[in-house]
Amino acid sequence: MISVFGSLVGNEEIANAVSCMKNQWMGFGGNVIKFEQAFSKKFNIPHFAMVDSGSNALFMAVSLLDLPRGSEIIVPSFTWVSCAQAVLMAGHKPIFCDVDPITMNIRREDIEPFLKSSVKAIMVIHYAGLAVDLDPIAAFGLPVIEDAAHAVCSTYKGKPCGAITDVGIYSFDAIKNLTTGEGGGLVSRHAAWVERAKTLRYCGIGKSGFEAALADAKGESRWWEYNISEPFIKMLPTNIAAGIGLAQLDRIDALQAIRRDIWRYYQSEFGRMNWVTTPPEAKSGDKHSYFTYCIRVPRRDKLAHFLLEKEVYTTLRYHPLHMNPLYRQMDVRLPHCEALNEDALNIPLHPRLSSDDVNKIVDLIKEFGKINSL
Ligand SMILES: Cc1ncc(COP(=O)(O)O)c(C=O)c1O
Repeated sequence: MISVFGSLVGNEEIANAVSCMKNQWMGFGGNVIKFEQAFSKKFNIPHFAMVDSGSNALFMAVSLLDLPRGSEIIVPSFTWVSCAQAVLMAGHKPIFCDVDPITMNIRREDIEPFLKSSVKAIMVIHYAGLAVDLDPIAAFGLPVIEDAAHAVCSTYKGKPCGAITDVGIYSFDAIKNLTTGEGGGLVSRHAAWVERAKTLRYCGIGKSGFEAALADAKGESRWWEYNISEPFIKMLPTNIAAGIGLAQLDRIDALQAIRRDIWRYYQSEFGRMNWVTTPPEAKSGDKHSYFTYCIRVPRRDKLAHFLLEKEVYTTLRYHPLHMNPLYRQMDVRLPHCEALNEDALNIPLHPRLSSDDVNKIVDLIKEFGKINSL
């Protein structure tokens, strides 16, 4: 079966993970600090903290805003469940809005109808790695949380997506452009917010007793009496994950080139099939990360089943959140998200695809078009 998403790891990732076990240091440790420094340098992000998942990074990001309990946060409905769950878990209420049917990204005009005094923040998602047009959204003057789970390597007007607004997050889960197995990152333009995040991620304690002992130059402290600055859950990343991430950072440009080449091939092939709506390119001055390739087609369900029968797994990211039974009580109509739910399909795009895989996918979709007279 050809999978729809995927990452690629090699001997360096394996060696880094194994060396953590050989050194008997698997939990939080030096690799995390090295990964944070290397990630910051590679993407030109001054303030960055690694955590154990993108979902937890989102919860941290919402928490860092220190909003009054019960605040409303606008979230595009076309996104992953963690976005709304982070809002709920932090004691607030997600207000779902529509997205642009072409870019699948949230826009200023999607937000406007939902603005009222109880709305205290906006969450945006750089869908597939295409940058959201942030400036008009920032102009509302509310704090903006940037979900850049798809957008490691993406830029907006020359700046790294995720690191542009008040607070942003990355995901390094097993299918992302840069994987650490499971993992995430939190970034902010405010240095103090990232420092706070580094304390919060360890149950609000920050330094371990061991680190405190090593830092005890005068030899007078009781390092075992930890200082809890705020109550918080544990989100520590592991030395193993960070070791994998260090090797991924070394190969990220090569991984991106593979994704870009497949994207370009799809664009040229599907661009010739007038029944297939292809995803948009990044605007000039922006950079795409090519995380996923989402087409819009008639007879979408039939195409997905046709491909599955031929061993090609596809999916839809995302089933709009406002249509989920958990949230349905909100009774809101979001026509673009609902249309995407009917005709959008993510087809395989990742660095483990061979050229035979990619040709097979294109040929099968062509064949489907012919069989169905599209
Ligand atoms: C848009 C978006 N946000 C957040 C996340 C959560 O990231 P993680 O899987 O690392 O928890 C994902 C994961 O797929 C995602 O796609």
